Amino acid sequence: MRHPRVDAIADEARAAIARAGSSAELEQLRVRYLGRQGALTLLLRSLGTLPEKERPLVGAAANEVKRELEALLELKLTQRREAERRQERARQRLDLTLPGRRPPLGSCHPLTRVQDEIIAIFVGLGFSVAEGPEIESDYFNFEALNIPKDHPARDMQDTFYLSEDTLLRTHTSPVQIRTMQSQRPPVRIICPGRVYRRDADITHSPMFHQVEGLAVDRQVSMADLKGTLELFAREMFGPRSRIRFRPSFFPFTEPSAEVDVLCFLCGGSGCRVCKDGWLEILGSGMVHPQVLGNVGYDPEEVTGWAFGMGIERIAMLKYGVDDIRLFFENDLRFLRQFA
Ligand code: PHE
Repeated sequence: MRHPRVDAIADEARAAIARAGSSAELEQLRVRYLGRQGALTLLLRSLGTLPEKERPLVGAAANEVKRELEALLELKLTQRREAERRQERARQRLDLTLPGRRPPLGSCHPLTRVQDEIIAIFVGLGFSVAEGPEIESDYFNFEALNIPKDHPARDMQDTFYLSEDTLLRTHTSPVQIRTMQSQRPPVRIICPGRVYRRDADITHSPMFHQVEGLAVDRQVSMADLKGTLELFAREMFGPRSRIRFRPSFFPFTEPSAEVDVLCFLCGGSGCRVCKDGWLEILGSGMVHPQVLGNVGYDPEEVTGWAFGMGIERIAMLKYGVDDIRLFFENDLRFLRQFA
């Protein structure tokens, strides 16, 4: 049964169904042709307006096309849905060959690294780690170390005072006193920690780190100090390092020396960093008899040596860092270089 109006709708619908790319589009076509306002539905509903003898013909043709389109849509939809499900499964499939996502790994701060390295060298020599408070009394920080009341180091310009008698320690040397007060010789300690001074520029920070070393026993000599520091320098700066002692002064050591290491950047010929071929790395000396007496040791019976060095300074020399503030800004671009 055929009729031109029905044929026109049927041809258009078949073409549209053939073109439809997705199940959603097919769903739209079902509505457009077979829905309540669909072209075929409207035609069937308007049969009454047609001339009497055309009605059965158009009605039969339209119903036939309606069944055909229903079947066609059903078939296409099933195919499309199946294809879409396949695509979705493929999309969701896990690719087990992809590399895993690594959680970001942190690393030690360069100052911690240098400090740990220094500690490891001395622990290997039989020293043990000692610590003391950062808030110190005037007695431990100055008095017991033979730094008299009128010594310039006590100046308000250099020291953070919390009260007349308490302060932020200006060096790790008070740990020497605390340790010697609480144990008898032999003493061999290494004391890392924070210290504070009123000072701030590209090589000074109001808070920085020191490591103190102390050895007290019978017949400990300046030669022992020199040998120990020579070994330290070779471990820290490489097997060909050399050190030299320069006469200096500290109230708590006598004699006193500052120690320089041969510049490992230029090998001693002189460069931008070292100027004259040597880099100063620490202060040291033989523990002053007065200091030994202050802690109840007999200076006739035992002798000792001590040294103190700034960890920032060692790290700056070792890694070629030219501004101390970089260590405290926590800029990841800086810190990652030490990972
Ligand atoms: N405490 C001294 C300073 O901070 C360093 C030092 C320690 C010198 C031990 C001699 C002996 O400069």
